[in-house]
Amino acid sequence: MVPMWRMLLLCAAGILIGPTIDASAESPAIIHVLVAYHSLSGNTERMAEAVAEGVRMVPHTQVSIRRVGNVTAEELFSADAIVLGSPVYWSNMAGEVKSFIDDWQFKFGVFPEFKLKDKVGAAFATGGQISSGKELTMLSILAAMLGNYMITVSGGGAFGASATTEGHSPGIDEQELLSARELGQRVADVAGAVKRGFALQEGLVRTSPN
Ligand SMILES: Cc1cc2nc3c(=O)[nH]c(=O)nc-3n(C[C@H](O)[C@H](O)[C@H](O)COP(=O)(O)O)c2cc1C
Repeated sequence: MVPMWRMLLLCAAGILIGPTIDASAESPAIIHVLVAYHSLSGNTERMAEAVAEGVRMVPHTQVSIRRVGNVTAEELFSADAIVLGSPVYWSNMAGEVKSFIDDWQFKFGVFPEFKLKDKVGAAFATGGQISSGKELTMLSILAAMLGNYMITVSGGGAFGASATTEGHSPGIDEQELLSARELGQRVADVAGAVKRGFALQEGLVRTSPN
């Protein structure tokens, strides 16, 4: 039998600590990843599918693959992470991808609130030639994400995942698809850590197991 004074003490402690939620008792939040791309001849689309496979390797994730022109406001704003892929056109991203990024403002009105702030962002690219603009294409995409206060990550390569598709290349190979999967996995891992971190900061979960 618990003495009355002890029960009163336990009740008082409960009131003081308040209704904190134990992270371990909660089912983990789902991480939403949007993989958006432009592709005319299918190469960048193949890489997009491999990025999505990588995302799915991480538990508690949900991935949407969309052509840039088909992304809705709901998909953009509900995503925890956005991975954006482009073919190289004249050593930079395709106009369609740039228009999509411009539409973050024209169609979706991200500024002045910076509505994409703290979402995780990453890039991938395919280019015909070995050294003809893939890294610049990825960096241009990442620069736009940085301008939106997003948290950019690499993976599968120093600036993201990429593949060479023409000339002496036989087309996208297994290693390049693997790099795309690695990128998807890393994006999902980081997006999960960021989401959990913010939940902790907002006091929705507590760290100590008491
Ligand atoms: C207008 C245009 C410009 C291109 N410029 C480049 C370039 O500067 N560097 C490069 O490596 N490939 C270039 N390419 C090749 C494409 O980047 C490459 O074929 C890419 O894999 C196509 O992607 P997709 O199959 O997803 O459409 C260009 C292709 C087009 C149509």
